[in-house]
Amino acid sequence: MTPSVATKTDESDRLRELGGERYRNDQRLGRRWNETVDTILSHRSVRHYLPTPVPYETVELAIAAAQSAPSSSNLQAWSVVAVEDADRRSRLNAVAGNQRQIAQAPLLLIWLADLARPRAIATERGSTAEGLDYVESFLLGVIDAALAAQNAVVAFESLGLGTCYIGAIRNDPETVSRELGLPDGVFPVFGLTVGFPDPAVPAGVKPRLPQTTVLHRESYDGELPQEDLAGYNRVLQSFQSEQAMPLVDWTDQVSSRIATVESLKGRHVLVDVARRLGFKLK
Ligand SMILES: Cc1cc2nc3c(=O)[nH]c(=O)nc-3n(C[C@H](O)[C@H](O)[C@H](O)COP(=O)(O)O)c2cc1C
Repeated sequence: MTPSVATKTDESDRLRELGGERYRNDQRLGRRWNETVDTILSHRSVRHYLPTPVPYETVELAIAAAQSAPSSSNLQAWSVVAVEDADRRSRLNAVAGNQRQIAQAPLLLIWLADLARPRAIATERGSTAEGLDYVESFLLGVIDAALAAQNAVVAFESLGLGTCYIGAIRNDPETVSRELGLPDGVFPVFGLTVGFPDPAVPAGVKPRLPQTTVLHRESYDGELPQEDLAGYNRVLQSFQSEQAMPLVDWTDQVSSRIATVESLKGRHVLVDVARRLGFKLK
């Protein structure tokens, strides 16, 4: 929808449409539509790509969007490695359990919490950089990387590209680290596949929990909203059936994803791995 030609009624209708897709209930989103919220509310992970390469200038634009994200104390404690080489992508894909979208996407971005750069800067100035040895600094790098990556996602999507986060590279961060030549103090947080979505296999907008479940006013309401959850199970099953996915209750998915150490797929040892990659995590 072009803002110059859109009327207020068009905008309200579009917001109703966007809210309907995201929640499949009567969630109100007001009347203040713009292209930015349209892009954000239309998000869907893309797992089927065309082989067309992502133009390098688009990558540079998305990285500028990433660098425009806020950063804790402006330390900018993140970096990203852009991987296009098919053999390297395939070796990284082995870590991630060989996911189709990694094999298909022409570009894989690996987002890094990067404490090596601030350490090098501090060391040059004769500092011990003791502050980097604490969990807080690891978290800072991870948060900075996540905020940056999500800005890049919004930029890519606004330009007609699709993306899918790949947390599964944390199944084996040491192999990823060796593959990318990461120095001590750099941790691969997640990957992101990027490419032009294959129009033959369009991805749908995955509904989310009703806002009443996640939005607390003034203080946290700890009651499990049973009706909301049952309703969401039904909504998500309709989505799954439209997308020809196996029908699974969301509440069962949540429960099994966190049920056992095995369900963490090797990521239960991440504290030890992060220590070996140069984070003291005090
Ligand atoms: C940090 C993170 C890691 C993820 N890792 C994977 C992954 O390894 N493979 C995958 O197919 N999707 C992955 N996803 C995508 C989620 O499954 C997806 O965002 C979620 O199901 C919601 O669907 P939507 O993005 O289409 O709205 C990841 C998402 C995030 C935020």
